[in-house]
Amino acid sequence: QKVVLAYSGGLDTSVILKWLEENYGYEVIAVCVDVGQEEDLIAVQKKALSTGAAKAYVVDVKEEFITNYIFPTLKAGAVYEDDYLLGTSFARPLIAKKLVEIAEQEGAVAIAHGATGKGNDQVRFEASIKALNPYLKIIAPWRIWNLKSREDCIDYAIKHNIPIPVTKKDPYSRDRNIWHLSHEGGNLENPWNEHDSNIYMMSVPPEKAPDTPAYVEIEFEKGIPVAVNGIKYNPVNMLYSLNKIGGTHGVGIIDIVENRLVGMKSRGVYETPGGTILFEAHKALEKLTLDRATMSFKKIVAEKYAQLVYDGLWFTPLKEALDQFVDSTQEYVTGKVKLKLYKGTCTAVATASPYSLYNEEFVTFGEDHVYNQKDAEGFINLFALPITIRSLMQHENMNH
Ligand code: ARG
Ligand code: SIN
Repeated sequence: QKVVLAYSGGLDTSVILKWLEENYGYEVIAVCVDVGQEEDLIAVQKKALSTGAAKAYVVDVKEEFITNYIFPTLKAGAVYEDDYLLGTSFARPLIAKKLVEIAEQEGAVAIAHGATGKGNDQVRFEASIKALNPYLKIIAPWRIWNLKSREDCIDYAIKHNIPIPVTKKDPYSRDRNIWHLSHEGGNLENPWNEHDSNIYMMSVPPEKAPDTPAYVEIEFEKGIPVAVNGIKYNPVNMLYSLNKIGGTHGVGIIDIVENRLVGMKSRGVYETPGGTILFEAHKALEKLTLDRATMSFKKIVAEKYAQLVYDGLWFTPLKEALDQFVDSTQEYVTGKVKLKLYKGTCTAVATASPYSLYNEEFVTFGEDHVYNQKDAEGFINLFALPITIRSLMQHENMNH
């Protein structure tokens, strides 16, 4: 029988690979899903095979990730707890989808992953797997075995001839993809410790960013970014180029304490350079093109959407329904936004759209033909009627 393992090439998943063979007698199919983690995945594939995998896949899903996971979330304006652009969260359902596809193709009976029993990732992987194929058995070794620490894993690796990374232990738990990089653990676990800026891998510290601002122009079609500085890009190259310029200017670094789905709070530093530029740009374009009632309702949807993505509920009917609402709001979110990047800030400074609802002729204080200032008097009388009535009552009571 076969098991499909979400394999990263690190110590943990290498130990899991052996452990699955040893404890279940499974043939292990290692799968490394390329979401833009910037690692040598050919080396990872080789390592899987030399560690005993019967087969090792590397699947590049970067474009699918951006088009079907990142852009819908961008259009929704979904941000978890006001800050987190969900970089790890929306990669998990896609990774799960690839694991399921390969499991079905290989006739595997189970899927195994290396997420711990205390985190969000286990929930996201497993909820997605269950949604896509409820017959697959799920194995989460961290919740089962009696290896409790890195030292236990190293002992296990030595005993089983698994190559151990020579680099010294990185104190942080990191997760990287084309959208973001997260750092958790290490000295971040004490929220009173200011994080050390030398942990950054995608960005320079804002203080060390250039003294002159950079300008970027992003063009959107129906809420989807299609060009940067007048040049059309495919989604993957667009993110590479925005990450570079955003990172150079220290844009998109956050340091937050967040509420995990599984109950506890955790503290993390996230780098999302290109993503932050896209979010700011999209928000500015919506301000120009969406009407007031839609904008305010969409905020409620964004909040719900963020929670659902964070919680791993990607493959659900509510998520599909919200996507339809969001897509309908994006019909006229077409146009361009100019942003200024400067020492960690990213500010929209100019916007234009063929569907702009902003009209200079209408807002002007001069004469125009859609707005009769005399209408305002009756409008205010009725709009403020409850205020007037209440005030009348209060004044009358005072006089009695
Ligand atoms: N706290 C973030 C989230 O829940 C990041 C998790 C990072 N995952 C990891 N395996 N290091 O989305
Ligand atoms: C993990 O437990 O694998 C990382 C943290 C998380 O999932 O939130």
